[in-house]
Amino acid sequence: MDHINDIAALDQAHALHPWTHFDSFAAEAPLVIERGEGCHLWDRDGRQYLDAVGGLWCTNIGLGRREMAEAIAAQAEKLAFSNTFVDMTHGPAALLSAKLAEIAPGNLNRVHFTTGGSTAIDSAYRMAVYYHRCRGEIERTHVIARDDSYHGSTFASISIGKRAGDKVPEFHYKAEGIHHVSSPNSYRRPERMSAPAFCDHLVAEFEAKIAEVGPERIAAFFAEPIQASGGVIMPPEGYLRRMWQVCQTHGILFIADEVVTGFGRLGKWFAAKDVFGAQPDMICCAKGLSSGYQPIGAVIFSDDIYEAMQGDRWYASGFTYSGHPVACAAALKNIEIIEREDLLAHATEIGAYFQDRLATLSDLPLVGCVRGKGLIACVENVADKASKTLLPDEVDVGKRISDTAEGLGLMVRPIGHLNVMSPPLVITRDQVDFVVDKLEQAIGQVADALTRDGVKIG
Ligand SMILES: Cc1ncc(COP(=O)(O)O)c(C=O)c1O
Repeated sequence: MDHINDIAALDQAHALHPWTHFDSFAAEAPLVIERGEGCHLWDRDGRQYLDAVGGLWCTNIGLGRREMAEAIAAQAEKLAFSNTFVDMTHGPAALLSAKLAEIAPGNLNRVHFTTGGSTAIDSAYRMAVYYHRCRGEIERTHVIARDDSYHGSTFASISIGKRAGDKVPEFHYKAEGIHHVSSPNSYRRPERMSAPAFCDHLVAEFEAKIAEVGPERIAAFFAEPIQASGGVIMPPEGYLRRMWQVCQTHGILFIADEVVTGFGRLGKWFAAKDVFGAQPDMICCAKGLSSGYQPIGAVIFSDDIYEAMQGDRWYASGFTYSGHPVACAAALKNIEIIEREDLLAHATEIGAYFQDRLATLSDLPLVGCVRGKGLIACVENVADKASKTLLPDEVDVGKRISDTAEGLGLMVRPIGHLNVMSPPLVITRDQVDFVVDKLEQAIGQVADALTRDGVKIG
C-alpha cells in the first residue's frame, strides 16, 4: 500500500467523521485533500477544485496565505499557550476582544471567547439565563429558535437547532425549555400568501408562541440572519427586524447566530444590524473570525448584559482554549487582511455578480429556486417547478449534482435536494463564471441522466 492510499485506508480504519453515514463511508474511500490556495483545493492525486463551499462556510480570506502562517508561527513560538481563566490574559486575547468590540454593532463591547460556533451558542444560552437570573428574573430559562435552523453540535446547540435530519433517533436531545417557530422560508410559504402576509403570519406566530410559553419565562431567541445549513433560507423583507422588535417588547434577548453570516459574507462585519436592521444583544461568531486558519469562536455581548452580571458571583463557564493565543493571533491577522484588502466592499460587489449569474440557473428544468445574498447561495432542485414537488429521496439529487460538479472541478455542498455555496470572499469574476458554468453543466448532466432513467422532470 503506498502512502497515498494509506491516508484513506488509515482514515477508514480509525476515524469517525462528523455527520458520517456509516454504510456509505464503509463502501467508499474518503476524498483526501492535500493543499489549498485562495479558492482552490487540490486532492491527493493533484486534481484541482474550485471550492465554492469555502471549506465549510469559513475560508473567507482564502487558503494558503503566507502572512497567516507567519502570524500563527510567530505566536506559537512566542507564547503557544497561556490560559485566560479568572484574571490572567495575554496580548492576542485582549487585542482581539477590543477589535471585536470595535467592529460589532451598538454597545456589544464585551467578548467571551469559545472554541468554535457550537460552543459560542452553548455559552450564549448559558449567559442568557445567567443574565436574567442576576436581574432577579429566575424563571427566564426557556429559549425559542426556528425550524430549519442549525446552531451547532454540542448537546445544547444541536437541541436548539431544528433541521430535518439532524435529530436522529439514536441520539438523545434536550427538549425541555426549547421551543421552535416556523422557518421563514419565502420559497415554501403557503400557496397564495404574499411575502408581506407571510411576514405578518410569522411575527404573529412568534407572538403566539411567546404567549403560550409565557414571556416571563423566555430568556432568549436564537436566529441566524440567514439560516445557512437549513438551506440558505431567505426570510421575507423586514422579518428579522420585526422579530427583534417583538423580543424587545418582552425583554427577550435577541441572540444573532452570525457563525456563517459574520466577517463579510454579506458584505458587512455582521449582518443582523447592518443588513437586516436588528441590533442583537449577543452575537455568536466563529468560522470567518479566523477564516478557518485556527479553531476559535466568540460571544460578543452588550455592556448592559455585562453590567447586570457584576457582583459577588462567579461566571462559571469557559474552556481551556478560550482566548487561545495562537487562535487569537490568527483572528487578528485575518481581520487585518479583511480591512487592508477591503474585502467587505469586494464581497458586496462580487456577491451581487455571483447572485446575478446564479439566477440564470433558474431557467433549468430541474431548478425550482435560486436564492441567496452576497456570497451565500442555494440552488433548490425540484421534480416540478410549478408544484415545487421534490424528487424521490432515493434520487439523492443534491449529492448527484455535487458529485458530478466535483468531476468537473467544482465543489458545491449537497444538503438533501439542495446545493449550497459560500465561496471565499476573495473570489474573482472569472471564478464566479467558472462556478456557474460548471454547476449549470452538472445540473444539466444529472437532469439528462434522470430523464434517461425515466424520472419525470419539468
Ligand atoms: C449558523 C451556525 N451556527 C453554529 C455552527 C456551529 O459551529 P461549529 O461547527 O464551529 O461548532 C454552525 C456550523 O456550521 C453554523 O452554521
